[in-house]
Amino acid sequence: MAAILSQYKHLVDFDQKSLFLSAASIAFNPTFWNIVARREYHTRFLTRIFGGRSQTACYFLAGTIFSLGLVRDALYERALRHQPIHPALDQELIKYGAYGLVACGNILVLTSTWALGITGTFLGDYFGILQEKMVTGFPFNVSSAPMYHGSTLSFLGTALLYGRPAGLLLTLEVLLVYLVALKFEDPFTGEIYAKRDRERKAGKKSS
Ligand SMILES: *[C@@H]1O[C@H](CO)[C@@H](O)[C@H](O)[C@H]1NC(C)=O
Repeated sequence: MAAILSQYKHLVDFDQKSLFLSAASIAFNPTFWNIVARREYHTRFLTRIFGGRSQTACYFLAGTIFSLGLVRDALYERALRHQPIHPALDQELIKYGAYGLVACGNILVLTSTWALGITGTFLGDYFGILQEKMVTGFPFNVSSAPMYHGSTLSFLGTALLYGRPAGLLLTLEVLLVYLVALKFEDPFTGEIYAKRDRERKAGKKSS
């Protein structure tokens, strides 16, 4: 295994601890927020800590997730700086493409947050803060998960901007981690809304 990895040392330097630290933080973040949000949904532990104010509790989780995101981004850029540059990526045209990807990624993330609001973006549904209607305008008409797709594009763009193949590997991890997260999150939030609709119907019948 070590022999195989050292063959690719000009692409990715697996001896750098920063690479694994970055990989760990990429995997940690969605794991963390899924565990916390589900625990909140089942026990309301965060809402109780905040004296029954679910909105405040959700803002607190949003702040935590956002901060973890900043740490993850810093660890990613640090990992990239410790990695070899590949000449194929170290070209002007690639840099322009990279800026475009980072810009598209940020547009998806920012417009999605704008459309959903803070609680809509940061797992408000798990706190019982449900959206009245599904948001269907931009960016949701170009992406089913603009936060995740946008974030992945930013990782890809940053890898190309730095000219580091290791960044492409970490971007692949980001993509896989988000795909797994969606597999967990979509059915769960779908059920939260289905439950509300069932309760509304039952309420209408009995009144
Ligand atoms: C998405 O919606 C926006 C308006 O919210 C519209 O301008 C844009 O053309 C739509 N894009 C697609 C691909 O449907």
